[in-house]
Amino acid sequence: MDRFRITGGAALSGEVTVSGAKNAALPILCASLLSAEPLVLSNVPRLRDVGTMKKLLAQMGTRIETMQMQPDGQEQLRLVSDAMTHLQAPYELVKTMRASVLVLGPMLARFGEALVSLPGGCAIGQRPVDQHIKGLAAMGAEIQIEHGYIKAQAKRLRGARIVTDMVTVTGTENLMMAAVLAEGTTVIDNAAREPEVVDLADCLIKMGARIEGAGTDRIVIHGVDRLGGAQHQVMADRIEAGTFLCAVAATGGDVMVRHASAQTMGATLEKLREAGVLLSESNEGIRVTAHSRPKAFNFRTAPFPGLATDMQAQLMAVAAIAQGTSIIAETIFENRFMHVQELRRLGAQIEVDGHTAIVQGVPALSGARVMATDLRASAGLVIAGLVASGETEIDRIYHLDRGYDRMEEKLRAIGAQVTRIEETAT
Ligand code: EPU
Repeated sequence: MDRFRITGGAALSGEVTVSGAKNAALPILCASLLSAEPLVLSNVPRLRDVGTMKKLLAQMGTRIETMQMQPDGQEQLRLVSDAMTHLQAPYELVKTMRASVLVLGPMLARFGEALVSLPGGCAIGQRPVDQHIKGLAAMGAEIQIEHGYIKAQAKRLRGARIVTDMVTVTGTENLMMAAVLAEGTTVIDNAAREPEVVDLADCLIKMGARIEGAGTDRIVIHGVDRLGGAQHQVMADRIEAGTFLCAVAATGGDVMVRHASAQTMGATLEKLREAGVLLSESNEGIRVTAHSRPKAFNFRTAPFPGLATDMQAQLMAVAAIAQGTSIIAETIFENRFMHVQELRRLGAQIEVDGHTAIVQGVPALSGARVMATDLRASAGLVIAGLVASGETEIDRIYHLDRGYDRMEEKLRAIGAQVTRIEETAT
């Protein structure tokens, strides 16, 4: 298992380019199941999770060709789902990546059947998929849970009015993909408004879907008989962008984060401004300048446009060295504070009381060996390691590789001392 060795203390400067968004690429790859014609996607990030999704689609029968590697290392892919052989998502893949459940809606809508392993709990919370199932059942699907699998069947899905019990991102995406080929109109109320939902809707519309209201809490989908091919560029990753902004906020420095889009990350920018960081937005991206120790700030995670839970660990790393006490409430996942114990090993002073973390900023952290527990926790530890004096080693960096494209290379290019230590399994 690879690990990172970071020598902290260097201010960051220069330019870094944000890759395509993981959480947009994953559902958009699944959208290829909705049509027999080619879907050509650019700005697809090279990530472990994208690799897992390609493997899942390929074993179902989708032909995937890498058309070109773009100069920035992003892939352009051509997917053709015209001869599907295997309408199943097996446990072996779903257990490694919950987003595999995103094949359920499209498979059921186009082929009338799907067999998808039920995801188990995961490191950050229980994460049930009851809302996905409830919505598909409202559209007329017959669904049984058997031997750990969701077995769904429907001759043709019918439009329905669905009100989800909570805002769910992949739930909204699964139901939207199912509804594009249903008979009649589907209304999804309490829909997720995340920019990744909008990017998926844009791609589906290019394929011929009739969707209104993506980006609001009511999405209306008028079903069509078939979808065609399309070309689409995956949006830039707002969480990767936010991670670089936090890194500079913590270490100090001056970095242009190319392709960062202020529209998609308003709440994060507001917190960083409160912390005293200078941010200037332009068509190229966001330039971040930080010359002094950050000031404490409080926040609660919330669905978009609120502050993303996927930014909580990185902002906590900034709060750990801020002047003053920050209060952070995690409202989306019940167990997303696992980085706290590791941050404490670096000298952070953080108390957790239920869903709230109280972070008493300290002037300096000191390097230590720590362990990554999930994707965004790893990003928080990397930021803390960049600030800490001496050496920090982060084990289990495979968590980071699920969602960050060559992070160590990008950080090195802006002056960080980060090396990957490759270890073969013994
Ligand atoms: N929930 C249910 N039932 C459902 C669906 C969700 O109870 O049927 C609950 C969840 O347990 C959670 C809340 O609703 O408490 C919101 O979960 P949501 O469904 O929105 O999460 P998700 O769709 O599984 C996506 C991202 C996550 C991100 C969350 C929240 C993808 C592939 N994943 O997950 O990304 O944290 O939305 O914004 O889009 C990450 O990238 O590190 C990551 C975990």
